[in-house]
Amino acid sequence: MQETGVASRIISLRKACGHVKNISADVKRATEFYRAKQTLLGSKALSDGEKQLLARISLAVHREDSMHVSGYAGEYLFAGLSASRCIQAALNSISKERAVGSLLDFPCGYGRVLRFLRAMFPKSDITGCELQKTALDFCQRTFGIVPLLSSIDLKSLSLPRKFDLIWCGSLLTHIDENATTDLLRFFHRHLLVEGICIFTTHGQRAVEMIKDKRKTFPLVDKNQQKLLRDFQEEGYGYADYLNQTGYGISAVTRSRMVELARGVGTWEEVFFLDHGWHGLQDVYGFAMRVPEKKFSKEPPKEICGHSFLAEEKNDH
Ligand SMILES: C[S@@+](CC[C@H](N)C(=O)[O-])C[C@H]1O[C@@H](n2cnc3c(N)ncnc32)[C@H](O)[C@@H]1O
Repeated sequence: MQETGVASRIISLRKACGHVKNISADVKRATEFYRAKQTLLGSKALSDGEKQLLARISLAVHREDSMHVSGYAGEYLFAGLSASRCIQAALNSISKERAVGSLLDFPCGYGRVLRFLRAMFPKSDITGCELQKTALDFCQRTFGIVPLLSSIDLKSLSLPRKFDLIWCGSLLTHIDENATTDLLRFFHRHLLVEGICIFTTHGQRAVEMIKDKRKTFPLVDKNQQKLLRDFQEEGYGYADYLNQTGYGISAVTRSRMVELARGVGTWEEVFFLDHGWHGLQDVYGFAMRVPEKKFSKEPPKEICGHSFLAEEKNDH
């Protein structure tokens, strides 16, 4: 009896220690994000409009958000800001004044980009789709989205509505060609005729980084070689992460990507930015209604560069 009492007190004590650790990590993270936001707000690389946007975003970051690595809150915020630049540029390429009434962020994760979308389109009806229930619940609570719990089998997904804007940041980058085709088919089915679907991929830039060992993503050497070979020979390279099946790293050439997208239905590439998101991922925009004036092949300069945070760090 006595032993049980002692054991339960030890368990309670451990739980209490766990809570204290969590709270102290939460405070540390909140402070890091507050500082990173202040640094960005003071940066010459942001326009006044971007600073106003940044000032409006929520800094609530979930402790399980794996997109945030401790010490890199600036990179996390910059990834969201860079996505907002890409999305705005893609919207501009079809029509500056286009109203975005409905929006789908697929996958929303824990809201790295979603927080910017919420601030950019405060009145829009936003749906977030995710495989991770905790992430989806967090996004629903924090950003007021309509949640859509996803499935591994993308063919089985369906919604009773369509969207003006679909944003897909960093999912095609992790799946093979068949899954990419299923996902594109889902996007095509759920895009309004006037809408635009913007998605990101790894392209030539990422492949060069793997080749010269600047980034491994992280794939074991054998899988890096497989990805590079298939990219070279087929235009689409994919390899699983270690001990995982169906989730890893992919890279695709622009011509193969356009071919795959065209294969799922009638729409056209209306926007493309080579390594436009965060200086790494290629950004595509596909729409059913193509503007008369085709988009410029020259991407806007301010989007293309590497993280200005890195540049500013080097300045000092
Ligand atoms: C690299 S993260 C990107 C998250 C978010 N877009 C961002 O930029 O922070 C990839 C996300 O895709 C989600 N995911 C993977 N497979 C999925 C699927 N079949 N349907 C929906 N989400 C999926 C993962 O749970 C993960 O949160």
